[in-house]
Amino acid sequence: MTDITSRTEAALAAIGAATSLDALEAERLETLGKKGWVSLALKTLGGMSPEERTAAAPAIQSARAAIAEALDAKKAALEAAALEEQLARETVDLTLPAPAAPKGSVHPVSQVMDELAEIFADLGFAVATGPEIEDDWHNFTALNMDETHPARAMHDTFYFPDKTAEGKDVLLRTHTSPVQIRAMLAEGAPIRIIAPGRVYRSDSDATHTPMFHQVEGLVIDRDIHLGHLKWTLETFFKAFFEREDITLRLRPSYFPFTEPSVEVDVGYSNEGGRRVVGGHGDAPGHAWMELGGSGMVNARVLEFAGLDPTEWQGFAFGLGIDRIAMLKYGMNDLRAFFDGDGRWLAHYGFSPFDQPTLSAGVGARA
Ligand code: PHE
Repeated sequence: MTDITSRTEAALAAIGAATSLDALEAERLETLGKKGWVSLALKTLGGMSPEERTAAAPAIQSARAAIAEALDAKKAALEAAALEEQLARETVDLTLPAPAAPKGSVHPVSQVMDELAEIFADLGFAVATGPEIEDDWHNFTALNMDETHPARAMHDTFYFPDKTAEGKDVLLRTHTSPVQIRAMLAEGAPIRIIAPGRVYRSDSDATHTPMFHQVEGLVIDRDIHLGHLKWTLETFFKAFFEREDITLRLRPSYFPFTEPSVEVDVGYSNEGGRRVVGGHGDAPGHAWMELGGSGMVNARVLEFAGLDPTEWQGFAFGLGIDRIAMLKYGMNDLRAFFDGDGRWLAHYGFSPFDQPTLSAGVGARA
């Protein structure tokens, strides 16, 4: 009995003095562990007579309870102290400047594509896509350019050496117009889409790169006429350039897939060495810049795309995204767009937080 009392006191003292969780665990093993003296003492109760047991049990039980309670309390205290210590050690000085991190920016082409999507979404256009590796049926034939059509030669096409399983030539699409065909075949009419993306032509100088960007537009419905096309382009350019004095010139032209066809020019002037849209291209100090082609979708194209031209009609346009980006943001060499020069990107790039929205301004600068 006195043995148990003194051993319990010694154990409680050791627990109280423990300075680490390891030391505490050693003390637990020595007392309540399988081979600890408290556990062994409890085991002896089984071999006792009922009288002996009644006499011996309370002391052992209370020793066990006291030690278990002390162990729990000390463990909680040590853990709390360890947390305190860790928190003190890991304080962060919020007044320090942020460490220098590599900074990325949104390329002007991506920014302009987002701006386009935002403006056209507001006019009820959905965004459609198609493959950059096309077959010649979608890129040419279905757009009313059969194998012998001279316009094919003007496209400076990159061909792949292999053909498709059906024997069609495989190429890098030379314009976004094949997406018109794919969208009409997939969705039928009425339809209202834009298709921004990369296109490829074997051509290179200050204003031409072998890869560049276009946005295709297509509207098919029952009563669409050239007036809708003109209104749509004018409304788009006013929203895109964020000014009302945009003058467009629609020039008669020829594309196999539109009839009639018109080329779209915009008036601009040179201000402080920078081209700025606005004003009439024929006015003194002003000029016209060609931005793309457009027209009423040729009936043959509607037929290729599975639509009945006596029921459906519409317009299509294709604009050079890089050109309108240059005009809006004042770059003068197209090649710099694709050099990946960090200094150029730092200067002309956009903050990823600068999402174009119609309410906040589609082209707000970071
Ligand atoms: N696909 C033509 C081009 O790349 C542009 C265009 C698109 C013209 C749609 C008319 C209609 O030159």
